[in-house]
Amino acid sequence: MIKLKDIIKEYGIDSANKVTALGGINLEIKEGEVVVLKGASGSGKSTILSLIAALNKPTSGEVVVDSERISKLSDDFASEFRRKNIGFIFQNYNLLPTLSVSQNIILPLVPMNLDKEVVQERLQRVLRMFNIEHKQNQLVKNLSGGEAQRVAIARANINNPKIILADEPTANLDEKLSLSFIEILKELKSEKKTVVVATHDPLFFNLDFVDKEIEISHGSII
Ligand SMILES: Nc1ncnc2c1ncn2[C@@H]1O[C@H](COP(=O)(O)OP(=O)(O)OP(=O)(O)O)[C@@H](O)[C@H]1O
Ligand SMILES: [Mg+2]
Repeated sequence: MIKLKDIIKEYGIDSANKVTALGGINLEIKEGEVVVLKGASGSGKSTILSLIAALNKPTSGEVVVDSERISKLSDDFASEFRRKNIGFIFQNYNLLPTLSVSQNIILPLVPMNLDKEVVQERLQRVLRMFNIEHKQNQLVKNLSGGEAQRVAIARANINNPKIILADEPTANLDEKLSLSFIEILKELKSEKKTVVVATHDPLFFNLDFVDKEIEISHGSII
């Protein structure tokens, strides 16, 4: 489902500020696998997620997702690819505080010009799925941390994407809410989603339903 081939990613243009974030990554993730990317701060985890989501392009090498060579796509096609295939859960959730729960969740559908009924149907499905139905008309700024997180997860799933990427999803959560996120992960696995979580939270290590734990150090897999 996801293949990274000989990926080098450098940031910065001249030698003075050049950072080699990834120094030759080869990685394969199969459909339906749940994978944990772990490693110290600055090791390159978020960079890997951004390449899989086509938010960023490698300096060299190839990223193939669902048989599409996404590292070669133009920006327009990359956005379309992302809308169709990827649900991204950001560390700080990237929700809009002054909009309601429902408005936040349906944001990824706006460019698609779907019928109102279709939007409603999809919205109700994820509201139920992530147990946030009762808060649908609340403003996001009034939610608790755990509720906001479920909104972010619901939004990542509104397009029913095959792939869910989560960057430090428990960074702002206490242990109880972190464990409930792990339960949601299990649920996503049972729905045959391919999931990649970047984290240094030890709660994600040695989980029985996780297919692979990949450790990154200084831009390489160990
Ligand atoms: N836009 C950027 N411009 C310049 N350097 C960057 C940029 N993004 C990341 N880097 C650098 O690339 C390296 C890898 O960063 P990345 O964010 O992928 O690490 P990470 O493993 O996600 O770290 P953390 O655990 O702190 O989130 C770091 O040295 C970082 O400073
Ligand atoms: Mg990161």
